[in-house]
Amino acid sequence: MGIVGRDGGGNDATDSSSVVEVKQVVGEKVPHIVIDNLTMTYGERVIQQNLNFTVNHRDIFVIMGGSGCGKSTLLKHMIGLYHPHQGDVIVDGHALWKGSAYKRQQLMRHFGITYQAGALISSLTLAENIGMPLDLYTDLSPADIAELVNLKLAMVGLAGFGSYYPSEVSGGMMKRAALARALALDPEILFFDEPSAGLDPISARRLDDLILELSESMRATIVMVTHELASIFAIANNSVFLDAQSKTLLATGHPAELLQSCPIEKVQAFLRRGEATPERTGKEAHVTQS
Ligand SMILES: Nc1ncnc2c1ncn2[C@@H]1O[C@H](COP(=O)(O)OP(=O)(O)OP(=O)(O)O)[C@@H](O)[C@H]1O
Ligand SMILES: [Mg+2]
Repeated sequence: MGIVGRDGGGNDATDSSSVVEVKQVVGEKVPHIVIDNLTMTYGERVIQQNLNFTVNHRDIFVIMGGSGCGKSTLLKHMIGLYHPHQGDVIVDGHALWKGSAYKRQQLMRHFGITYQAGALISSLTLAENIGMPLDLYTDLSPADIAELVNLKLAMVGLAGFGSYYPSEVSGGMMKRAALARALALDPEILFFDEPSAGLDPISARRLDDLILELSESMRATIVMVTHELASIFAIANNSVFLDAQSKTLLATGHPAELLQSCPIEKVQAFLRRGEATPERTGKEAHVTQS
């Protein structure tokens, strides 16, 4: 990407010119995923066409739009599950689809995913569910896997619940366990489809807080599908809005900026749904979160 040392790089920045350079690197947006003229179809049916947008490193990026417009379909293309009809998904400069299958598998190893309907395997305990990717994709010993599983459980606030089966925990706990499974391989990019859907507002808010904390502690990029306005304004710093009618994106950018200045009525209607106003859903949400 041409930029190294996001953590300071190891240079002793003692003179003022180095300091300025470090500041510029920290403030710069570095593309992580570039959606390049992507068209997605099921058979003959076009779902979305000619999509172009960029997710930057460490973004919390939200895919927005009405039900059925193709949000989950887009996510499945971004994670390498569905082949595009046209165009490509570029991850850190590497094409997911135009490159080799081997390269695609390598890129996919850096993804952590929770699906919209993607629950845990009900016949396995939470610990076994979370340990599964480690068992499949690493050479770690069972003892090391157990230790890592406990660490991931603790990260999502489920320490001590490893031996529980999914049916023995609440909906919110199940979603957090699915999050822990997505974290198992220390991914660089986390993809979530409707992470807080079906939860009561307080549990949904806790899950949002957790996602925010994880993005900070893991320095991961997050791509998330959600309808939840509260989540969108509380945690996202970038977004795309898909439209089912025109079958393409209508807007991309910071949700608060879209709310303030996007002239497209559908986008405004979505962002102002219910009692949402810029004052109540925007900056204030950030303040009460921390
Ligand atoms: N596997 C599939 N085969 C054929 N059509 C599909 C398939 N999956 C989804 N579709 C169709 O593609 C369109 C987009 O579906 P998708 O699930 O991506 O929408 P969405 O925006 O995620 O909706 P929601 O907000 O309800 O989850 C829908 O019309 C759906 O019926
Ligand atoms: Mg969906």
